[in-house]
Amino acid sequence: MPGRAIPASCLLLFAASLFSAVAIAQPAGGSRMLAATPPMGWANWNSLGCNYDEETIRAIADRMVSSGMKAAGYSYLIVQECIVPTGHRAPDGTLQPDPKKFPHGIPALVAYIHQKGLKAGIYTDVGTKTCAGYEGSFKHEQQDARTFAAWGIDLIEEDFCDKPKGFTAAQLYARMRTAIDGTGRPMLFYICNWGNERTWTWAPRLGNAWRSTGDVGDPGRAEWNRILGNFDQNSLHAASGGRNHWSDPDMLEVGVPGIDAVEERSLFSLWAMSAAPLWAGNDLVKMTPETQEILTNRDVIAVDQDSLGQPGTLVLQGPVGIQVWARALAGTGSPQALLLFNRTSEPAKMSVRWEDIGIYHAVRVRDLWSHQDLGLIPEEYSTSVPAHGVVMLRVSR
Ligand code: GAL
Repeated sequence: MPGRAIPASCLLLFAASLFSAVAIAQPAGGSRMLAATPPMGWANWNSLGCNYDEETIRAIADRMVSSGMKAAGYSYLIVQECIVPTGHRAPDGTLQPDPKKFPHGIPALVAYIHQKGLKAGIYTDVGTKTCAGYEGSFKHEQQDARTFAAWGIDLIEEDFCDKPKGFTAAQLYARMRTAIDGTGRPMLFYICNWGNERTWTWAPRLGNAWRSTGDVGDPGRAEWNRILGNFDQNSLHAASGGRNHWSDPDMLEVGVPGIDAVEERSLFSLWAMSAAPLWAGNDLVKMTPETQEILTNRDVIAVDQDSLGQPGTLVLQGPVGIQVWARALAGTGSPQALLLFNRTSEPAKMSVRWEDIGIYHAVRVRDLWSHQDLGLIPEEYSTSVPAHGVVMLRVSR
């Protein structure tokens, strides 16, 4: 590929303007240490929507363990939406979950999740109603946070539907942040306001993860163009994320019908290059071996979870749709992850000359999808990349 480097001066100016706009501080209290690396887990919305009950969730918990997802690092099981029908609060205001969905109650379900060695996540909203019209937490934040803590919850996702008038997003999320701190229970706070009101300027100091984009898809259907859109939008803001406050381009669509295996591998690689939270959203009970292999690719997960926590950037742009992204990794030998990404609908021959990306020596190369060490490569790496596909490498001295 005839590479065209992006001038470093432009990148620096851009980064400086980003950082001047963002006063990054980490969440206070016990939540501070909850997300040293991007959180990983599973959530029901993208495959099941509201079509689940406690049995479904128990089966998912079982599968997270038996499929190797838990061992690969997916630790949170988040129950999203349709939990408390509107107005279902006890006379003292305590949330009353749907007894048809949760006949044994949420604490019993949480105990089951904990017995599996997993953590339990729950979902609410800044308004009085969630997006699907269930009970939200507005003006009940302290009570709801205490209820969630009493149920043993480990993560709270707060959505942005039915936004109360007269408040900014930052004010609304600060109410829940304060409420969580007041419980004394460490609960990861996941801010889901879709990148509205310049989320990246305030959410890093309130939440452990914050959505920088709209939804990546609708339940049960993955769409390649929306995946690309979320990746691109998030890449403008990923640098505002970092240790304990990660920028999130939304759930993974790996295993959700609508994209093929090449696209699934690309999506997984793109999220890993972005230091994004890895929230699987597929129906784990129906997961194919191929999907399982993608979601548990430890070489790629290691990039996502790298302890430097520095998201990748676009370093080379070839003809339209041909890109190379690089992400610095922790360790000796200046390791980096490189992603050769072919966004076009035709296979492409791609090559990267090391000197075009600031490497002036031979590097050891590992292919993170074939899991092969390719040895010491002196100057340039060439390969063919399928349409919508990637080749992902780890290079080091
Ligand atoms: C959206 C959110 C999705 C999902 C959905 C549920 O606002 O971005 O991830 O939670 O609400 O209604």
